[in-house]
Order: sequence, then structure tokens, then C-alpha cells
Amino acid sequence: MLTKEEIQKELIKVKHPELKKDIIFLGMLKSIVQDDGTTTIQLRAPNNDRKLQIGLEAQIRQTIGKLDIGKLKIKFEVDPNFQLDDSNRVPGVKHTIVVGSGKGGVGKSTVTINLASALQKKGFKVGVMDADIYGPSIGKMVGVNGRVPLQTEEDRIYPLEKYGLKIISFSFLLEENRPVVWRGPMLGKAVEQFLYDVVWGDLDYLLIDLPPGTGDVQLSLAQLTELTGAVVVTTPQKVATLDASRAVSMFLEVKVPILGVIENMSYFVPPDAPEKRYKIFGEGGGKELCSKFKIPLLGQIPHTIDLMESGEFGKPYFLNEDTIIRQAYTAVVENLLQEVEKWS
Ligand SMILES: Nc1ncnc2c1ncn2[C@@H]1O[C@H](COP(=O)(O)OP(=O)(O)OP(=O)(O)O)[C@@H](O)[C@H]1O
Ligand SMILES: [Mg+2]
Repeated sequence: MLTKEEIQKELIKVKHPELKKDIIFLGMLKSIVQDDGTTTIQLRAPNNDRKLQIGLEAQIRQTIGKLDIGKLKIKFEVDPNFQLDDSNRVPGVKHTIVVGSGKGGVGKSTVTINLASALQKKGFKVGVMDADIYGPSIGKMVGVNGRVPLQTEEDRIYPLEKYGLKIISFSFLLEENRPVVWRGPMLGKAVEQFLYDVVWGDLDYLLIDLPPGTGDVQLSLAQLTELTGAVVVTTPQKVATLDASRAVSMFLEVKVPILGVIENMSYFVPPDAPEKRYKIFGEGGGKELCSKFKIPLLGQIPHTIDLMESGEFGKPYFLNEDTIIRQAYTAVVENLLQEVEKWS
């Protein structure tokens, strides 16, 4: 027969279906009693949630049922005073912020990487997770083209480092030019691994660059971890706010606080006449979105040729000396920090 310790070790594999933590970590295991060829596992639960109990029982039977433990009995004891630790923070990370948008191409990745650089320059420890499974671009934007193994012996993934940022991207897992078809469960699992198996160390901020839209990755992230909040990127056209509204609504629905909106490409500043501003993409979209949902406008980022090129050259533009872009991001960061403070 397996010893109690051996059984307990096996039970670490049994995870609470919503909290994604094992039953030992959550303190649900009350006792293991072995008597006369029978192993009785007693679990604590905060309420009489039968669906949860049946699910856990099935998992336990699947995990240890075939091992040498004799007959298996599983009992639940309901204790209303028992509280599960449901804080789902990414280990070592103080604030996790997602950067999303309703549609593609509005500048999420550019904003994420420049915001990360701006925070890092302010003295924070910052990580960036590129969760855009369909078009991961953060690696290219910082000129990192490395590979990291998803499955390692110790089940740990180490982020790559550039410009003082810790970076992990789906592109580090894939071979270039090979399309990947992510199936639902695989996707959730990969996102989970990105959150919990990456060795971030101590971070003040983890910024997550989301794929465009309101799909599975966004929902998985919101469900799997406690997010400080979301930043929504939009462009100034009024029609763009329709897409951005969908993103805001989705975050609100899954109870993710909206830290604010960043209006990107607000006006074009020509390199040969930096005092001029051309509203080539219209105006007012950011403001309109913010007043509709009563959320803050964190700032407006101008459209410049340099900023566009910086993405191509693999260096966050914030790191350059350009005053217009630096000023814009500095203002955004100040506002963002205030919002984070409010929600923490
Ligand atoms: N403020 C800006 N000024 C000039 N070019 C910009 C600006 N913001 C983004 N761009 C450029 O616009 C393009 C799209 O930006 P980016 O890739 O950041 O958008 P995205 O929302 O992440 O797109 P996707 O939905 O494809 O992930 C890039 O070529 C980028 O360099
Ligand atoms: Mg992107």
C-alpha cells in the first residue's frame, strides 16, 4: 500500500476547476485515513457545491484510483468558516495589466512595449507577455528572436531579457513561418503556463499584449488570474470606438477594472514640421469612448514616422530622446499609476 505521504503527493495533481490551484495548496485536504484495506480521503469545502464535489471526486479517483491504496472512499465536510485562498495573482508580480483593443492594428503592441519601457525608466521592474497567439509581434518590436522551450524538465519557462524588460512571447515557442492552429483546451493551457510557469522573479508590473478582439485568450486570462485592470487602445475615428466599446464591455462583464483608454495615432506630426498636427484619422474617438463608459482617458499618442519605424527596427521608441513621444508616454504613465493606485 502507498503511504499517506505518497498519496498526498499524488493529490497535488488534483486541481480546483475554477481556482486552478491544487487541493493541498487550497487547504482542502483534511485527512487521509488508512484502515483495514480502505483509504478514506476527507476534504473540507466552504459550501455544499455538489458539482464541485463530484468534479473533484472524479479527479481524485482518476489520479489515485488505480494505485495501490485498497478501497477508496472520499468524503466532504462542509465548513462555512473555511475559506479558500482564491487570490490568483501571478507569482511574484504586483500588478498585472492587460492591453486590449476591439480591433487589430490600432497599436496595442507598440503601446505595450513603449509603456513597459516608460515604466521601466521610472524605476519599476517590468515584464511583458505577448499573448497574441495569432500574430505575436513583441519579439520583433524589441529585436528578440529567441526560442524558449514550453515543456522543460522542471516545468519552468524562463523569459528572455531586452532593454531591462523580461519578455515572453508565443513567438518564442513557435517556428517562424509555421502557422499554428491552437485548439481551445490547448490555448487555455498555454495561457495558464505563460502565467504560472514563467519565472518572472519579482515584478512591479506585468503588461500583457492581447490579441485583437474579445476571444478565448482574453477570457482565459481574465478567468485564470487576478488582473489589476485593463488598458484599452483605440484610434481617434468615431467608428473605431464601436470596436473599442466591445472590448470595454467584455472586460466589464468579466469584472476586470478598466484603468483607462489610450488614444493612439491621435494626430500626425510631420518630421519636417514638428509644430504641426494633422488629424488624419479624425478626432474625438477616445473622449467619446471614455464619456460613454465613464472611464479615464489616459492620454493621446501622436502618429509619427519615427514611432512607426521603431517597431520595425526593434527598439521601443520611448527610449529615444524625442520629446513629443516621450512626453505623451510620460503623461500616460502618470495617469496610469494614479488609476492603479485607485484600484489596488
Ligand atoms: N503612434 C504611432 N505612430 C506611428 N506608427 C504607429 C503608431 N502606433 C502604431 N504604429 C504602427 O502601426 C502598426 C500597427 O501597430 P501594432 O502592431 O502595435 O498594432 P496592434 O494593435 O498590436 O496590431 P495587431 O492587432 O495586429 O496585434 C505598426 O506598424 C506600428 O509600428
Ligand atoms: Mg499586436
